Amino acid sequence: MRTPIIAGNWKLHKNRAEAAELIRQLASMVQDAEATVIIAPVFTTLESARIALEGSNIALAAQNCSCESSGAFTGEVSASHLIDVGCSHVILGHSERRQLFGETDDLINRKISAAQQSGLHTIFCIGETLEEREQDQTLDVLRTQVTEGLAGLSTEQMQDVSIAYEPVWAIGTGKTASTEQAQDVHSFVRGMIFSLFGQQTSERVRILYGGSVKPENVDSLMAQQDIDGALVGGASLKAEDFARIANFRAVN
Ligand code: PGA
Repeated sequence: MRTPIIAGNWKLHKNRAEAAELIRQLASMVQDAEATVIIAPVFTTLESARIALEGSNIALAAQNCSCESSGAFTGEVSASHLIDVGCSHVILGHSERRQLFGETDDLINRKISAAQQSGLHTIFCIGETLEEREQDQTLDVLRTQVTEGLAGLSTEQMQDVSIAYEPVWAIGTGKTASTEQAQDVHSFVRGMIFSLFGQQTSERVRILYGGSVKPENVDSLMAQQDIDGALVGGASLKAEDFARIANFRAVN
């Protein structure tokens, strides 16, 4: 019922030539993928990536965008600029943006609204730190992130939002949440979407898992009822690994 999304977050990696080469390798390997396959390169490579992606079934995302649409905002890139360069998706609220660049729930909320107004599909990231998990605050943290991040969005706008649950302690560490831990959180998040936006939206919204997703663990993660895809960092930089993830087989 929910088409899975497998998205590669390239972070601050790959110049234009490297990006074009990775896309060339990937394109044939994921052409039969049943999931929506997305890559998110660095801003300055988006234009050349779009050209390299022509004829493939891979969609283009940015890793961030401004909450402003235009004006005196030095250094910003707006959602409409991303549309202009050929992006269909944007990743917002990634934990690295929250932790390293001070992004708050309120700012992320304004960015999501800006993305929706321009017609970009948002992959909205949430997740708890290790300290928060150890202090049993996981669900409270996620409740706040979801409620504040999605505040003011209409049910209609929610059609263009997916959520990525990425426990911060699992990002780039090689540690993955167990399939049960991930499923429990995903089911909680879907319940929150039910209470905020109603049954239909909660049944439709894609909830991705992120944090050390690899060829070795993708199948069992994707077998979980409420896991509808993956946001992949490190393993998205290698064509074979990302292609294997995109062509997952949902089995335990
Ligand atoms: P990772 O990163 O797969 O390298 O853990 C995931 C992410 O940050 O989105």
